[in-house]
Amino acid sequence: MKLVLLGAPGAGKGTQAQILSEKLGAPMISTGNILRAAVKNETPVGLRAKAYMDAGELVPDEVIIGIMRERMAEPDCKNGYILDGMPRTIAQAEALEAGGVEVETALSIEISDEEIISRMSGRRICPECGATYHTVYEPPEKDGICGKCGHALTIRRDDEPETVKNRLRVYHAETEPLKDFYAARGKLRMVDNRNGIAETTKVICEALGL
Ligand code: AP5
Repeated sequence: MKLVLLGAPGAGKGTQAQILSEKLGAPMISTGNILRAAVKNETPVGLRAKAYMDAGELVPDEVIIGIMRERMAEPDCKNGYILDGMPRTIAQAEALEAGGVEVETALSIEISDEEIISRMSGRRICPECGATYHTVYEPPEKDGICGKCGHALTIRRDDEPETVKNRLRVYHAETEPLKDFYAARGKLRMVDNRNGIAETTKVICEALGL
């Protein structure tokens, strides 16, 4: 399966990608997680990406396309993958096609901007393994501690309310047009994420025929 998850920042892409990855046994490839690890390790890519991420802007296409080519060439990707947060521009989607990647389904997770702003304030992430939690909707078993690797959870730098507003603006201008891109190819499916996490997984599985 080659699945693309589309959706606004905070729509629930990472949460559902994590669940689907475990269910399907396919790797989840999150450009956000790869970039955050690069920033933490102060690699050349991380040093270049940091200012864009902190401001809620997109990292330049050529950086992302390079990261994706490298990641998709790894052996665990040979039977498929779940792309979380990529493509995010028409240029990135075209680069995937030009590289011979045939996306089977682009699944857009739909939710209002108002709901997103309220959800982002409760998000906590594990800076070590990238797992995502929510203080109310998906709390870790032990307060403030990642259930997967035991590391202390943190708040993402770009979850500040002003940065979230800019990320939403960028999403509507640069990423939302991908819905038309994939609809024109007959590959777009849309699911509502207003209900709980488990209910959304159920709707996604139905949409994917799983
Ligand atoms: P990235 O990390 O991809 O961030 P994003 O797309 O802005 O998405 P988020 O991770 O914020 O949200 P999500 O949809 O995964 O939601 P989540 O599941 O966490 O990118 C970060 C930055 O990196 C970008 O701004 C950009 O600078 C750069 N970047 C990355 N990829 C790039 C690319 N391809 N091109 C250029 N630049 C790129 O859910 C949010 C919260 O809600 C969680 O706490 C979760 O527990 C909770 N939640 C989820 N679903 C539900 C539900 N149904 N009910 C209640 N709570 C829920």
